[in-house]
Formats: sequence, structure tokens, C-alpha cells
Amino acid sequence: MTQVGIIGAGPAGLMLSHLLHRQGIASVVLERRSRDYVERRVRAGVLEQGSTDLLASTGVGERMTREGLAHDGIKLRFAGEEHRIDFRRLTGRGITVYGQQEVIKDLIKQRLADGGEIWFDAEATGVEGIDGDHPRVAYRRKGEEASLTCEFVAGCDGSHGVARVGLEAKSYERSYPFSWLGVLAKTPPASNELIYAYHERGFALHSMRSPEISRLYLQVDADDTMDAWPTARIWDELRVRLAEPNLQTGQVIEAAITPMRSLVTEPMQCGRLFLAGDAAHIVPATGAKGMNLALADVKVLAEALTAWYRSKSRDLLDDYSDRCLRRVWRAEQFSAWMTALLHHDPAGDPFDHKLRLSYLRYIVKSDAAATTLAENYVGFEVA
Ligand code: FAD
Ligand code: PHB
Repeated sequence: MTQVGIIGAGPAGLMLSHLLHRQGIASVVLERRSRDYVERRVRAGVLEQGSTDLLASTGVGERMTREGLAHDGIKLRFAGEEHRIDFRRLTGRGITVYGQQEVIKDLIKQRLADGGEIWFDAEATGVEGIDGDHPRVAYRRKGEEASLTCEFVAGCDGSHGVARVGLEAKSYERSYPFSWLGVLAKTPPASNELIYAYHERGFALHSMRSPEISRLYLQVDADDTMDAWPTARIWDELRVRLAEPNLQTGQVIEAAITPMRSLVTEPMQCGRLFLAGDAAHIVPATGAKGMNLALADVKVLAEALTAWYRSKSRDLLDDYSDRCLRRVWRAEQFSAWMTALLHHDPAGDPFDHKLRLSYLRYIVKSDAAATTLAENYVGFEVA
């Protein structure tokens, strides 16, 4: 028995557990993978100011402040040109590059230091009784079936989770005819800023994790597998698309293909079940929004649960989904727009290609257009 049963030890689940603990609310986090697995899983890298503020102000930002890389802009490359979008000048804000798995490590360490309960290798198999006062999470751990009784359930179990199943909600969805091949490589970043490159052969992105480690992405066909991408081909394609003379090959630490998808579940709650993060919505990675949305959701959820435990008022809990969805839809629109702007359409409509180039030129010439990109990228405050 616990107050809040949390499914999933990703950024959403771990941060929620941390925020609740700071308000004296008990939780148990059920995670189907091992601690080692979740701490190594390479994913997002860009934190908005709102996310860094949340980590720092709740005592889990010390390493991020030390090791995170502060960026004030990005580079856009297309048609042989390079332009810089200066976020700081346009919005007064910047971003921090800090790997998601580092955020995960910091949160797990803090939760365990605070005596928090994270049950690794415990897979939730279903959620029951969400219309009553004591919902239950059924789970399997070390071959044994059991269930955890709680007062609330937070479904923070990502895009393939179980919490969403059975929720009476509407899904809005879009798929894309391409995926991203992401590479983590032992080579110093070739540029001090992220490079978003639009190329006739497809999109490419140069990012980083540290002064020694680069994070690189290529647009690939939706049905491509890693078999089609031997290491030499990856580097050749990155060289052509990024057109970055300083790019040096290095040991590939990790390489994987991730599909691009947009999805929103509405509402994000039912009875005593609340969804947060990728369990409720997915964005294509172009706008770097996924982890930020996950953290923003649980900040709202923690406030609502705190209000409930303080005063037994359900008002903030009832508003949870509506409050989150305003930010979620802003991020969905921005991510779909960035994706359409920067990816080559495999069907190859030459008119669309010309429209993209024209829009990119507009962005780099007009402060109004550049500000639209910048203020969404650094995190637009909807409320
Ligand atoms: P997750 O991180 O997916 O966590 C869910 C957890 O639940 C997992 O640990 C999973 O193992 C566990 N789980 C699932 N099912 C069960 C079950 N039945 N029982 C128990 N546990 C379960 N976002 C950004 O903001 N910026 C970026 O730059 C960015 N780049 C990305 C690049 C790539 C290649 C990818 C794949 C994603 C990227 N994202 C980015 C998205 C970001 O990684 C996700 O949005 C983020 O992980 C969402 O966090 P979450 O906690 O909601 O879900
Ligand atoms: C990353 O560093 O992993 C990253 C950066 C920007 C994106 C997506 C991913 O848009």
C-alpha cells in the first residue's frame, strides 16, 4: 500500500516521485527494466530553461549545472549556407545540453538517498479500480504476480506502457514516412552548437553530450533497419548532409533507429489514474520537446496531488489534463512544423522542397520568423 503508485522510472516517473517526496507524499515507482538499463538508455539531450530550473530548484541539478552545456543558439544549414539562430538575442533564454540518462542517474541517486522506493525489474501488467478510492497496479516481479494498492496511480510508462490501455480517451495521431538513426560517438563535437541540416538526401543533426562525445542523427526511411546502415555509410552520409569540415569519425558507442510519431491522448486522466509524459503524448524528436513535456506534466501533477493531500480539494486534479494539454499541443504543433520544415519528403515533391527552402530563407532573414522558432525551441510559456 502506498499513496501514489507510479509506473515507469523515466524522467516523468522519477521526477514525480521526487517532487511528491518533497511534499511528504509517499510513492512507489515500478520499473520493468533494471537500474543499469535505464541509466544507460541513450535518448534526449536538450533541456529547456523550465526543466533546468525544476531540476536545480528541487535539489537535483548540481551535476547538470556543472556538466551541462549552456547553448544560446543553433545553426541552420541548407543549400550550402549556414545561419545562426540566436536564441538569447531573440528570447533572452537559452537551452542546456545534458543527456537524459544523466538526468535519470541524478534522480535515481537522489530518490535512493532519500529512502525512496524504486522497484526495478517489476513490470506493471494492468491498472484496476481507478473509479474507486483504492486503485491497484497489477505487476510481475521475478516471475511472481502481485498487486500494489494505492490512492492514486500515475502512468509514466512511456509510449508502450500499459497505463493508457483501458482509459476512455481519444487519440490524435500522425506517423511520418521516415525515422531517425541516432549515433552516440566517441569524437569531440565538430561544432560548439547544434547543427540542424536540411539536405536533399535528408535531414541530419549534430548534437553532443560532452567535450568528448558527439550525438548525431540522420533521417532514414521508416522501414530501414540497422543492417542497411554499416558504420562507414553512417559517417559518409553525415559528412555529406552536415557539410561540416571538422566532423571526425570516432568509435560508435551506440546506434539505433527511432520512428517519428506524433500522438496525443485526451484527456490525460480518468478517475484516480493520471498519465504523464510519453504515456500521454509523443512528439517527433526534431523540436527536442519530449523530456521537457514529461517534466512539465509531473510538475503540474505534483502540485495537484499536493493540494489534494493538503485540503482534499480535487480542483487542481480535475484541471490536470487541461493545464497540461495547452503546453502539449503547442509542443506538438512546433515539433510537427520543425519536422516538416527540415525533412526531405521521400515521395520527393519538388514543390514542397522549394517551399521549405523559401521558408528557411525567411527564418534566417526575418526576426519575426526566427523568433517563432526560437521562442518555441527554448520553451513557450502557454499559461
Ligand atoms: P520514458 O522515458 O519512456 O520512461 C518510461 C519508463 O517506463 C521506462 O523506463 C520504461 O522501461 C518503463 N515502463 C514501460 N512500460 C512499463 C510497465 N508495463 N511496467 C513498468 N515500467 C514500464 N526529448 C527531449 O525533450 N529532447 C530531446 O532532445 C529528445 N531527443 C530524443 C531522441 C531520441 C532518439 C528519442 C528516442 C527520444 C528523444 N526525446 C527527446 C524524447 C524523450 O526521450 C522522451 O519524451 C522521454 O523519455 C519521456 O519520458 P517519460 O518518463 O515520459 O517516458
Ligand atoms: C539530442 O541531443 O539528442 C537531440 C538534440 C536536439 C533534438 C533532438 C535530440 O532536436
